[in-house]
Amino acid sequence: MKTQLSFAVPAQIETELLAVLAVDTQTEKRPDAKPAPVLLTADPAVASAAAAVLSSGEYKAGANETLLLHAPAGLAAKRLLLVGLGKQAKATVHSVRNAAGTAVRFTKPRGIRELAFTLPETETKSLPPAGVARAAVEGAFVGDFDPDTYRSDRKDQSVQSFTLVAPAGADRAAVESAFAEGVVIGESQNFTRSLVNEPGNKLTPTIMGQRAAAMAKEVGLACEVHSTDKLHELKMGAFWGVSQGSEEPPALIVLRYEPTGVADGPKLNPTDKDPSAGAPVLGLVGKGITFDTGGISIKPGDNMEKMKYDMAGGAAMIGAMQAIAQLKPAVKVIGLVCAAENMPSGNAMKPGDVQIAMSGKSIEIINTDAEGRLVLADGLAYARQLGATHLIDAATLTGACVVALGMVNAGSFSNDEEAYQHFTAALEISGERFWRLPVEDDYREQIKSSIADIMNTGGSRWGGAITAAMFLKEFVEDTPWIHLDIAGVAWTEEQKPWMAKGPSGIAVRTITEWVRTYAK
Ligand code: BES
Ligand code: ZN
Ligand code: ZN
Repeated sequence: MKTQLSFAVPAQIETELLAVLAVDTQTEKRPDAKPAPVLLTADPAVASAAAAVLSSGEYKAGANETLLLHAPAGLAAKRLLLVGLGKQAKATVHSVRNAAGTAVRFTKPRGIRELAFTLPETETKSLPPAGVARAAVEGAFVGDFDPDTYRSDRKDQSVQSFTLVAPAGADRAAVESAFAEGVVIGESQNFTRSLVNEPGNKLTPTIMGQRAAAMAKEVGLACEVHSTDKLHELKMGAFWGVSQGSEEPPALIVLRYEPTGVADGPKLNPTDKDPSAGAPVLGLVGKGITFDTGGISIKPGDNMEKMKYDMAGGAAMIGAMQAIAQLKPAVKVIGLVCAAENMPSGNAMKPGDVQIAMSGKSIEIINTDAEGRLVLADGLAYARQLGATHLIDAATLTGACVVALGMVNAGSFSNDEEAYQHFTAALEISGERFWRLPVEDDYREQIKSSIADIMNTGGSRWGGAITAAMFLKEFVEDTPWIHLDIAGVAWTEEQKPWMAKGPSGIAVRTITEWVRTYAK
């Protein structure tokens, strides 16, 4: 999708389709109160083209409600599309993101390849021009993605040209840089989605490593992809235990981002001799199980095909690293993906086995299907060994998290209030939805083992998302850490007006933003 930014008057834009936002200004809560749709553009020609339909009562400007007008009088555009944001008081940057996705998804199946999307003209606190510009571009990319890559009758209906029309009076430099950021983030989120979409036979751990390496080369990141020998050398008994049952070798993917001149990084103590001393190093660790059969504790057949997306946490880290490489924050970042296939075989790990993790802790394996926490245990320990001072991990870790939070919010966990404050600040920009769950020591009882230091599943299934997080906590020790359980939201079962069903690319935007908060 080609994107460009324009400050032209909407009515004068020659395009196949001009999209304009509308809000419902009705504030009365009475059930018989009629919606009062109003366009968010001051262009009188657009207003008059839409006047009749707005006064007809047919269009209510509900969230993502669309209405198409052909040959609108007085406009250079061939079509005018109204896209609703819902109630005016509730309209935010995030509703604009979805509205842009909705406009793109409206356009795609109609064979229209060109779209101009008008940003709100009236500057309000909840709709700042730069914020909406960035969100709209991100939303356009999100809307443009379709997962049907393997259909031989696939018609690539991507929108070829997306023009963002910003108000002429806006701060141009701010809108231009927000627009450029939106392109980077939208493309990175879609890169993650394209990886998550791949079936297990097309994206083995080795191929995941190759895809990460190719991306790294393109954006100028350092990348190493290790396999079995390195796992043995690092004594990653937990990671290897998962991988040992598969014919496919594991991949330990390491991506490194260094800002130019680390001395530019924030200093805690400027008197230190080493100019970079005290500067944070952020470790991003992702679960990359390219297929999870459950191993010897094999999963039931129903829905097992979905377990190709068990690498979504790893893919999110790869996408975030792609964005970070281009946005160039002044902070060091290490991206780690522990990629493996969880398979049953004559070599597979068995319940009752004891694995020694890289940190030296012994783990009694109760259930081989609780494999994500095993690969992450070694990934987190390795990130610390490489110098990470702050950690974030993402994983499709537990079904219990889906039971707890459904498919709307993903789970978040943290052992550190300051790191979590950075995360909350990131959420405000990303618009992604995470709900914090506890990691309190009382839960640790559930993972005590009588024969080893710890066991890989709780003694009961209660609080399963939390006991999984407690397991990871053992391996981050005192490093500030955030854990994201994205099992319920990494794959969307139902299509939305702004997004196809399938891989969502969750966490890419928030992780990227979390990293950037350390460079400010
Ligand atoms: N990959 C699954 C978790 C999952 C479930 C992801 C649903 C996406 C959707 C994970 O490896 C797993 O199997 N977890 C087990 C843990 C249990 C054995 C303690 C689970 O959640 O059932
Ligand atoms: Zn599993
Ligand atoms: Zn899994």
